[in-house]
Amino acid sequence: MQAGAELAIIVPTFNEAPNIPALVERLDRCLDGIRWELVVVDDDSPDGTADVVRELGRRDNRVRCLQRVGRRGLASACIEGMLATTAPCLAVMDGDLQHDESLLPQMYATLLGEKLDLVVGSRYVSGGHHYGLNESRLDLSRLATRLSRPLIPPELTDPMSGFFMLRREVFQASMRRLSGIGFKILLDLFASSEQPLRFQELPYGFRRRTAGESKLDGHVLWDYGMLLLDKLFGRFVPVRFLSFVLVGGSGVFVHVAVLALLFRGLGQSFLLSQASATLVAMTANFALNNLITYRDVRLTGWGWLRGWASFTMACSIGAIANVGIADYLFGRDTAWAVAGIAGVLVGAVWNYVMTLVFTWRQAALR
Ligand code: GDD
Ligand code: MN
Repeated sequence: MQAGAELAIIVPTFNEAPNIPALVERLDRCLDGIRWELVVVDDDSPDGTADVVRELGRRDNRVRCLQRVGRRGLASACIEGMLATTAPCLAVMDGDLQHDESLLPQMYATLLGEKLDLVVGSRYVSGGHHYGLNESRLDLSRLATRLSRPLIPPELTDPMSGFFMLRREVFQASMRRLSGIGFKILLDLFASSEQPLRFQELPYGFRRRTAGESKLDGHVLWDYGMLLLDKLFGRFVPVRFLSFVLVGGSGVFVHVAVLALLFRGLGQSFLLSQASATLVAMTANFALNNLITYRDVRLTGWGWLRGWASFTMACSIGAIANVGIADYLFGRDTAWAVAGIAGVLVGAVWNYVMTLVFTWRQAALR
């Protein structure tokens, strides 16, 4: 009988096939003397990363693959990887060789020796560097760090780090509170823990990527905003609702633009212009919510058309409810602005709940 691993390295991957063999080789070289395992959590990468991992695993039982189908997300992949191992120590590291694996033994010794909850690989403490980031990414990283301040201890220099190690108990104490949104799992852990975490940062040099490409894009930035909102207000309002309301707000601009074009620009009747603007705004709202708010369960093909129909129907009833309630309140001596806003709020909640249940049902079931 062979005992399980002491240390699990959790590596989220999306299209990292060319990097995985080198990663395993390097772990093997630098983790001598530690019983480790590698858990690659791959989101069904089209480049066949999961097959590469399984192939390596057939030769080396320390290499495991958790393949998720129909799912995306760095943070949620890390969470599921941690849940899939029995190891008492958990490390998270990128699969693209940008993180310096030779820091792992020191992280492990520090975590156990100093009785810490968490050890963070930092680019910003003395001895570390961020040469692998270009100027604009560096600015972005700094801005993101500043925005995260209300949620993290002031001494933490690199809350955006995707390279860290923690004790299993620490993860288990907060796993039910984690948001699991987007890229920033370390920030999520700090913000979700009820006890202050005892941590130390160790410097490392962030390398340049040589194979494959970064997955950081506009969606990742949006997700970051949603993670912050969820950690700040998620106790009171679901973050999807906030996203839904933000998208709804943008619909006002679409509406006014189409109205101006048809009525002022093309000289159409007001009724026709207003009706068309409403339909276009609803369609834009549906498309945007499908892309952003419900990206994880987004509709495509016929599902998109069916979704559009149920969305338009639900929102039309929402508009009637909105006007009805506002009119009722106004008739009972409520100030016009208060009556108007109350109508909008009721309409927004109605639209959100109805489209959650009928349009993006998968999200309601989750
Ligand atoms: N399973 C899964 N699902 N993995 C993903 C996904 C996803 O949707 N998106 C990205 N990954 C994997 C990548 O394949 C890579 O192994 C790792 O997550 C990091 O993604 P990159 O796209 O290489 O991110 P980056 O280099 O721009 O930023 C990384 O390093 C920074 C410095 O530590 C991230 O880890 C950042 O969070 C971190 O700040
Ligand atoms: Mn990277």
